[in-house]
Amino acid sequence: HKRRGRQSDQILIKGGKIVNDDQSFYADVYVEDGVIKQIGENLPVPGDTRTIDAYGQLVMPGGIDVHTRLQAPGAGMSSADGFFQGTKAALAGGTTMIIDHVCPDTSSSLLAAYEQWRGCADGQACCDYGLSMDIPRWHESLREELEALVKDKGMWAFIFFFSLRMYEIFCILRDLGAIAQVHAENGDIIEEEQKRLLELGITGPEGHVLSRPEEVEAEAVFRAITIARQANCPLYVTKVMSRGAADVLAQAKRKGTVVYGEPITASLGTDGSHYWSKNWAKAAAFVTSPPISPDPSTPDHLSTLLSSGDLQVTGSAHCTFTTAQKAVGKDNFTLIPEGTNGIEERMSMVWEKCVVPGKMDENDFVAVTSTNAAKIFNCYPRKGRVAVGADADLVLWNPKATKIISAKTHNLNVEYNIFEGTECHGVPTVVISQGRVVLEDGNLCVTQGSGRFIPRKTFPDFVYKRIKARNRVRRVLFAIFLCARAGQPFPWRNIPLGLPCSLLSPGSQADDHIARRTAQKIMAPPGGRSNITSLS
Ligand SMILES: *[C@@H]1O[C@H](CO)[C@@H](O)[C@H](O)[C@H]1NC(C)=O
Ligand SMILES: *[C@@H]1O[C@H](CO)[C@@H](O)[C@H](O)[C@H]1NC(C)=O
Repeated sequence: HKRRGRQSDQILIKGGKIVNDDQSFYADVYVEDGVIKQIGENLPVPGDTRTIDAYGQLVMPGGIDVHTRLQAPGAGMSSADGFFQGTKAALAGGTTMIIDHVCPDTSSSLLAAYEQWRGCADGQACCDYGLSMDIPRWHESLREELEALVKDKGMWAFIFFFSLRMYEIFCILRDLGAIAQVHAENGDIIEEEQKRLLELGITGPEGHVLSRPEEVEAEAVFRAITIARQANCPLYVTKVMSRGAADVLAQAKRKGTVVYGEPITASLGTDGSHYWSKNWAKAAAFVTSPPISPDPSTPDHLSTLLSSGDLQVTGSAHCTFTTAQKAVGKDNFTLIPEGTNGIEERMSMVWEKCVVPGKMDENDFVAVTSTNAAKIFNCYPRKGRVAVGADADLVLWNPKATKIISAKTHNLNVEYNIFEGTECHGVPTVVISQGRVVLEDGNLCVTQGSGRFIPRKTFPDFVYKRIKARNRVRRVLFAIFLCARAGQPFPWRNIPLGLPCSLLSPGSQADDHIARRTAQKIMAPPGGRSNITSLS
């Protein structure tokens, strides 16, 4: 194997409390070749092993940031924190894996955009990464492209914007075992509101939030959930920013919909009152979509839903632009490039908002910052768990230490930090990525390009077990309905070995009006094209 020189590949983390999403216990952890090799007490380790004292600290799986946009183009420019700076900041904050969003421009194919992102990230990222892809529009070869990305490229998930053929796309993704993500906004309403506000002479960053009323986000979430339920496709809502949207998600989840919601550092950690700041540069730093809610009680509400399990994962949607870049929209808020920081602050912010006030315990914390993401995006337990055989992506967390977030000390290329001055209790003291110490004593030591692409396997159990069972139930119900309509007995004995009645072979009873319709329908039955046997 390859030795990386600089430091010992063998590390013993001694005396810490191991925290997984389901339990905590005291034990030592021995790491070799980037993997956790042993967990226990009095471990036999080789002579040149380096020991890290973890007494009084929590040893947790490194964070997974489910949503970053490090390569995002905004108004023809690229974001201030690219893959190198962004992943460096992630590691500084205790995050050891990110899922970045590929956003294809209108001229390139999805595959070309994927290759472009891989090229950038492979050369620059200093922690492991996965990719999701934005699908900006429907086009004829979309199905083939999605299939190729899922089957050959290990793509994680796909994010949709509205006004597309959503039902159709959801069905395709469900059959592929992928995850449909939506960005919940309604473009038509926003466009009209923007026009109206500009006409009124409102040109500053406050126009951004005024043009995107919160009901619009909630309505978009509701619509996506309705379509996903019909398609029996798992749904994942990125960037949950408002009370309304979070409540709609929580209700759907309680009714049994397979749906996940992602509040971000910004929606948990600050509010949108800053859009009215007299300091234009500061106000502009908050511009993101959907906007940060101006209601000061929203962060508290979101952290409560995150703690209760109604929302499951946290991202940062990190996408930053310098003040000079944001200034393109100085006289017209619609031109301000969108995005806020949060990649470095996410872990400490969740600790501060959820664990410190006692809404969550340390295990819940690990669940929403790491484990749930690993399960949804199907890289568990390689990621998201401190266990023998898992990747040595670890963070030593000191719950007693504090730090104050500031642009003076952050690891970002921007002048403003939207959490400026926030005091966080709970700080990563040592961060280990791929078995190497990258943060220690406040010093970062990262390697550009060392991050690996983590491909995903389809049909994650965590998400798809219920979807598959529902598909089976739906098919049987539908077959019963067909048999009843055709006046045939339903062959119960054959369930679940094959499809039940003669109507299922297209063309039989072709003269019969009803039968023909049903025969056509069964080509695309609810729950997808495949048959009962292929689902079990
Ligand atoms: C503001 O920018 C938009 C494009 O986003 C443009 O359509 C509009 O005319 C501009 N309005 C003003 C007042 O500059
Ligand atoms: C159902 O699917 C299985 C496996 O995909 C296939 O072998 C079988 O022929 C299919 N049956 C019908 C009735 O289409």
